[in-house]
Amino acid sequence: MDRLRITGGRRLEGDVAISGAKNAALPIMAATLLAPGVHRLRNVPRLRDTQTFARVLELLGARLSFEGNEMTIDTSQVASVEAPYELVKTMRASIYVLAPLLARFGEARVSLPGGCAWGPRPVNLHLAGLQAMGAKLDIEHGYIVGRGVKLRGATFSFDVVSVGATAQLMLAAVLAEGTAVLENVAIEPDVTALGEALNDCGARIEGLGTRRLTIRGVSALRPIDATIIPDRIEAATFAAAAAMTGGRIRLRGVVPEHFEASLHKLEEAGCAVERGAETVAVAGPPRPAPVNVATQPYPGFPTDMQAQMIAVCALASGTSVIEDTIYLDRFTHVPELARMGARIELRGNVAVVKGVPRLSGAQVMATDLRASASLVIAALAAEGETVIDRIYHLDRGYEALEKKLAALGARVERLS
Ligand code: EPU
Repeated sequence: MDRLRITGGRRLEGDVAISGAKNAALPIMAATLLAPGVHRLRNVPRLRDTQTFARVLELLGARLSFEGNEMTIDTSQVASVEAPYELVKTMRASIYVLAPLLARFGEARVSLPGGCAWGPRPVNLHLAGLQAMGAKLDIEHGYIVGRGVKLRGATFSFDVVSVGATAQLMLAAVLAEGTAVLENVAIEPDVTALGEALNDCGARIEGLGTRRLTIRGVSALRPIDATIIPDRIEAATFAAAAAMTGGRIRLRGVVPEHFEASLHKLEEAGCAVERGAETVAVAGPPRPAPVNVATQPYPGFPTDMQAQMIAVCALASGTSVIEDTIYLDRFTHVPELARMGARIELRGNVAVVKGVPRLSGAQVMATDLRASASLVIAALAAEGETVIDRIYHLDRGYEALEKKLAALGARVERLS
């Protein structure tokens, strides 16, 4: 199993090109199932998760090529409707194939994802929404099974804002009979990007970027030709690395407003931030100031930056209070950061972080994607050497991370 060795204490300086967004790429890859034909996606990040999703599509009968960051997906020969447990358990987003399969074939057999490293992560809203649209779904032997389904537009109001369930119901509604009205939807840029990609190939989705979507079903879609939007979480993670190391990093190829909540918090922590049209320059302070953060659905502060922000606050000149309101148990990084000298007290879903003047390198273990990212940026700022074990989690969501960090002056090495 690969490990990452980081020798900390260097300021990170220079430019970094931000990759395409994993969480925008995955639902758009699922959407290719809706229209038989050859789809072209550009700026797809080369990650374990995009490769796993490619594997799911291949198992269903799609033909794929993935060269550089361009993915071509031919969905004309798709014949199977089964997404097996072996793949879905490794990547929950595989559940995105459910609605497209029901829409195209009237049938699907998709494994339930099960638990995840930081809690239950239910899919009840995906199922309730599809049921409201006429899909009779059964749970059989761990699988969600639909047979003879004919999707019809319906009004569905989400009682919790959910990125995944919003995307799932958009995928269901675009080819359904009649009009769907979805209320209290997620407005994350990934959701809007999915809607735009669908509209570009003939879907009729109105209200993108607002909490209410009206989707008029159409009888067929053309193949997708889309460029994946930049990854706002990757961008914000590099910005946090600048904050922690007192460095200066220019993020290239970004949409600054997509990670405004993170930039705003980093400014509060003492960073100087310059926003350009497609660039953001972040200069870290000598020592971060403490900040209070509560995660919220977009445009609020993202749960996917909570771990990295705790790392920044671990070095702050005072006490920070960080609350995760989206995932109440997503704190597996806390005991690992403590091994590096961080002083963090967990009270339920609230982390009280008492800043210390310095962290020290240690052997730590990655437990999920963003927890790993927080350990990496902590290691970059820590004194001495940190070895991070189980970095396959990082490979799920950060493209060419060591290469990008090394180009910014970090001393980082992958140990196989
Ligand atoms: N929820 C329900 N029922 C559902 C679905 C969600 O109660 O059927 C709850 C969840 O338990 C949670 C809240 O709704 O409290 C929001 O979850 P959401 O459905 O928005 O999360 P997701 O779609 O499963 C996506 C990202 C996550 C990111 C969350 C929140 C993808 C593939 N994943 O997950 O990304 O944390 O939105 O923004 O888009 C990551 O990239 O590291 C990652 C975990």
